[in-house]
Amino acid sequence: MKGTYDFGLVGLGVMGRNFILNVADNNFTAFGHDLDTEKVDALRKEGGNTQRVDASTEVKTFVEALSTPRKIMLLVPAGKIVDIVIEGLLPLLDPNDIIIDGGNSFFTDTDRREAYLAEKGIHFFGSGVSGGAKGARLGPSIMPGGNKEAYLHVKPIFEAVAAKYKGEPCVAYLGPKSAGNYVKMVHNGIEYGLMQLTSEIYDLLKKGGDFTNDELHKTYTQWNNGRLQSFLVQITSEIFEQNDTLGDGKLVDKILDKAKQKGTGKWTSQNAMDLGIPVPSIDIAVSMREISALKEERIAADKLYSRPTVTLMPKAQLEKLAEEALYFSFIITYAQGLHQLADASKEYGYDLNMAVIAKIWRAGCIIRAGLLADITEAFNADSTLPNLLLSPSFIEKIQSTVGAARALVAYAAKNGIPVPGLSNSLTYFDAYTSSRLPLNLIQAQRDYFGSHTYERLDREGIFHTEWES
Ligand code: 6PG
Repeated sequence: MKGTYDFGLVGLGVMGRNFILNVADNNFTAFGHDLDTEKVDALRKEGGNTQRVDASTEVKTFVEALSTPRKIMLLVPAGKIVDIVIEGLLPLLDPNDIIIDGGNSFFTDTDRREAYLAEKGIHFFGSGVSGGAKGARLGPSIMPGGNKEAYLHVKPIFEAVAAKYKGEPCVAYLGPKSAGNYVKMVHNGIEYGLMQLTSEIYDLLKKGGDFTNDELHKTYTQWNNGRLQSFLVQITSEIFEQNDTLGDGKLVDKILDKAKQKGTGKWTSQNAMDLGIPVPSIDIAVSMREISALKEERIAADKLYSRPTVTLMPKAQLEKLAEEALYFSFIITYAQGLHQLADASKEYGYDLNMAVIAKIWRAGCIIRAGLLADITEAFNADSTLPNLLLSPSFIEKIQSTVGAARALVAYAAKNGIPVPGLSNSLTYFDAYTSSRLPLNLIQAQRDYFGSHTYERLDREGIFHTEWES
């Protein structure tokens, strides 16, 4: 049926197929497009009723099937393919049609595409979508940015398909230009940090407490029922239970310890450096994926050096410290990511509302966690909060758990267990909360060798000293 479908989706891979079926489940008619006949046929079959959800390999059939202004979402791999798909659609579109890029595109690409399409009267949105395949099907967290008026056409659909937290949809218009992609990028940076921390704690429990997979499953399950409640802790508990169907024992022990990455964590770190905002818990999570990839070199180096024999810690004591340290370092990681967002908002004119961002992360996305309800409240109480560590409601949470982080970092160092995420989180905390740091010496060194000048504590002005007598 020409010109009647409410929503169009290009890219019928797992995410695309699940997303479009979710749209159709919510009483919107949807039409998909993919060049792959198998994917088109699979969707038509799974959709059941072609008046509700249909698809075509022909871009013209696809565009003509949609009602105007057309709302076309792209769920294709980030990069050149997005531009190619846009070029294919352009000659068939009318002014005021809307293209939504739901992939993990780099934010400056979104700005470029928005400006290019605006010249042709087409609205372009960068919209983060988080929650993996299951989220896309049952309710993702959606992070749209772009032209606000055009968003109103998409809003009812996004609000219907998004995950719900106590009835509230986990989607909100975040800001102009690439705000949506930027927020999703930092979401992923935080995701990298939390994953690194969860895996370090697993290593500590295993090496320092001799925890079996069954015990790890129990511990993470218990944590997921408490203040650490989160998607990542929940799936971690389930991972320890999974048997290896190709051999004996649990699958987790057979998986090669080389972590891959598609780049969003690295972009978060790179851009944080450009902004001058420290996010060391995210930086180290990226570096650890890089170190993990050096498997052959790690094996060779392992043979060259001895390391201390691990002194086991009583299980109950270690478990308690681990829970507190994980809670502490989760808070620090969210604090860093949100600090970056607050700064990027000023730098790029996004006008982000931090409480709204924390709110739409409470369900659907990969970093959803009980903690996000507390974070939402902290920013509701003070929308100008530069850093979560300055929120009165977080002082007690941090103060009561930082001791465990200190104890575990010291224990890990003594026993040769790498915990860079945990120690970076602790060091960030110690540095951020120090009114005096030794960087006065760096200023003196810079002035000594390069006449770079320095400021003083006790008087105004710019000073230089001839250091060599
Ligand atoms: C999400 C995820 C998703 C991301 C994967 C893989 O929010 O659903 O962030 O967008 O693509 O987590 O990322 P890496 O391959 O870089 O680990």
